[in-house]
Amino acid sequence: MNLPSGGIRRYVGEILAEAKDPRIEVAIAPPFPFLDQVTAEIRDSGIALAAQNCSAFAEGAHTGEVSAGMLRTMGCRYTIVGHSERRARYGDTDTIVRDKLTAVISEQLVPVLCIGEEESVRLSGGTRPKLAQQLEAVRSERLMTAELILIAYEPVWAIGTGKNATTEMVAEAMQWIGEGIRKLWSEAMGERCRLLYGGSVTPDNASDLASVLLVEGFLVGGASLDARKLLAIHRAM
Ligand code: PGA
Repeated sequence: MNLPSGGIRRYVGEILAEAKDPRIEVAIAPPFPFLDQVTAEIRDSGIALAAQNCSAFAEGAHTGEVSAGMLRTMGCRYTIVGHSERRARYGDTDTIVRDKLTAVISEQLVPVLCIGEEESVRLSGGTRPKLAQQLEAVRSERLMTAELILIAYEPVWAIGTGKNATTEMVAEAMQWIGEGIRKLWSEAMGERCRLLYGGSVTPDNASDLASVLLVEGFLVGGASLDARKLLAIHRAM
């Protein structure tokens, strides 16, 4: 659950008032029930709407699920897919993540695909194969038709823990991900993917992390709940 303190209207108002650099796109990803309110607040502002998850199914009887088509109708441009909390706690296997990606791309939404290693994997030197495996697992014909995919490198041990990855770790992982996309997906897809970092991004570490060559943006969790912190991260980009 994640709602900004002080309410959505005030939060979005603060972001709208200050996040004006046209070179940096801001997207807000509220929980499903608040998409409608946020979309009304950001109308014509240049700020984009994102969802935190979506159904793997395009249609059919799937009580409680929210399809990519519904998200498009709500005004979403982006949908997060494969967040580590979904993978670890809600059964989002690689196959389900692949199907969700397919559903999102089929609706012309831009997926924000999260990949990253657990702490034990990093400690045993398995980060590169883990990232490659997560990329390979979501390969599909539909994936290759995507015009834009955002890939968020989110080490699981860095999410919500206050322990961000170092710039060296991020630089190395970004390199591996870029190579993985070209090798496991295609050269052309390499041109159509943008890399983000996520995991305990704060105003204090944002400019260091943003200085990593292949980092083109952030997926911000905890710090984004405070508009002032999100704006400070925005300024650090
Ligand atoms: P965090 O969350 O910024 O609080 O670590 C990131 C995320 O949930 O993707």
